[in-house]
Amino acid sequence: MDTRLSEGRWLRIPGPTPLHPQVVKALGHEMVPHRGELIMGMMERIQVTARKVHGTESGEVLLWAGTGTAGFEASIVNLCNPGDKVVVTCCGDFGDRYAATAEKLGLDVKRVNVPWGTAVSPEELDAAIGEHGDVVAVMITHNETSTGVTQDVAALAKVAKSHGALVCVDAVSSAAALPINMDENDLDWVLSGAQKAWMCPPGLMISALSERAIARSKETTGYPRFIWDAPTMVDASRSRVHPTTPPETHLFAFDAALQAMEEEGIDQLFARHKRLGEFFRAGLKDIGIELVADEAVRSNSVTAFKAPNGSAGAFRDKVREQWGIELAVGQAQWADSVMRVGTMGWTYEPELQATLEAIEAAAK
Ligand SMILES: Cc1ncc(COP(=O)(O)O)c(C=O)c1O
Repeated sequence: MDTRLSEGRWLRIPGPTPLHPQVVKALGHEMVPHRGELIMGMMERIQVTARKVHGTESGEVLLWAGTGTAGFEASIVNLCNPGDKVVVTCCGDFGDRYAATAEKLGLDVKRVNVPWGTAVSPEELDAAIGEHGDVVAVMITHNETSTGVTQDVAALAKVAKSHGALVCVDAVSSAAALPINMDENDLDWVLSGAQKAWMCPPGLMISALSERAIARSKETTGYPRFIWDAPTMVDASRSRVHPTTPPETHLFAFDAALQAMEEEGIDQLFARHKRLGEFFRAGLKDIGIELVADEAVRSNSVTAFKAPNGSAGAFRDKVREQWGIELAVGQAQWADSVMRVGTMGWTYEPELQATLEAIEAAAK
C-alpha cells in the first residue's frame, strides 16, 4: 500500500475531504443509548453551532442519514406537490441533478441553463420565473462543484422572493466554507452533505429549514413521506429524541467538527476559506494554468482548471503516481479536459503549496 495515499492531507479532491483530527478521534466513540442524555446533549450543541454556520437564529437544522442528493428529494417532497412549477438554476452537473430529481418526482421544471464556468444572473432567473408563472420554489446551487463557480445566492434569492417563491439552496460544497447567511438572504431549505467542508465522512445529510419551510411542509400532502417527513424530524430535533435509531457515529463526528469550528471561530473559518481559495488560484496563475470559471464567480472552496497536457485522466494519474496527491478530474462534458481541486475543510496553505508544486512539475 502506498502510505502517501493514506494521508488524508493529500486528498485534494473536492469531497470527500480530509477528516479533522478531532473527527477521526470521535469516530471511535463507543455506541450509547440513542435516546439517552449524551445524544440529547449533543443534539442540543449541534443545533447551536450548525445554526451559526448557516447564518440563522431560528432555522431548524435537521440531520438525516443520507448524502447530499437525498436533500434534493427531501426538499421537494416536503415543499412541493406533484405538478408544481419550479425553476432550477443549472450552471453545472449538480444543478442538472437537482433539476433531474425534480423532473423525476413529477414537478413542472424550468431549467435556467447557462454555459459551464458562468453563473445564472438575477435577470435570467427573473425572466425564467416570469415565463414559467406561479412558481412554487426556486432551486439554487450555491457552489457548483463541477465548475468551481459560486453563484450569488443573495441576489438570486431576492429575485425568487420577489415572485413569492420558496428558495431551496444546494450548499453541499459551500456549507462551512462560504457564508450562507440563511436569515439575511431569506432562504427556506439549505441542504448539504457532511463530507465536504464539514470535515466529516460521507453519510450525513444536513438540512436547515426556515419557519416558512416548516409551515409549508405541514401543508403539503402530495407526496407520501415517511423517512423524509420534515415535520416528524422537526419535532424530533426540538425534543432531541430521534424518530429512528440515529447514525450515532456520524453525530459524534459532526459534533466534533462543529466544536473544532467553534474553536477556530465561524468568521475565521470563512476567512480561511477565502484566503485559501485566493492562494490556490494565485498559485495556478503564477504557473500559467488556465482556470475555467469566469473570474467574477470563482469559488473559494473548489477550483477547476484546464488539464495541462490535454488529458485530465492522464494528468491525475501522473500526479498521484509521482507525488502521491489525489486530484479530481472534471464531470460530464468536462471529464476529459478539466481538473478540480478542493480547498475546503481541514486544509491549510502547506498542502496547497505542495499541490501547486506537483501540478507545476507534472505540467512540464
Ligand atoms: C454541489 C453539490 N451538490 C450535490 C452533491 C451530491 O452530494 P452527494 O454526493 O453527497 O449525494 C454534490 C457532491 O459532490 C455537490 O458537490
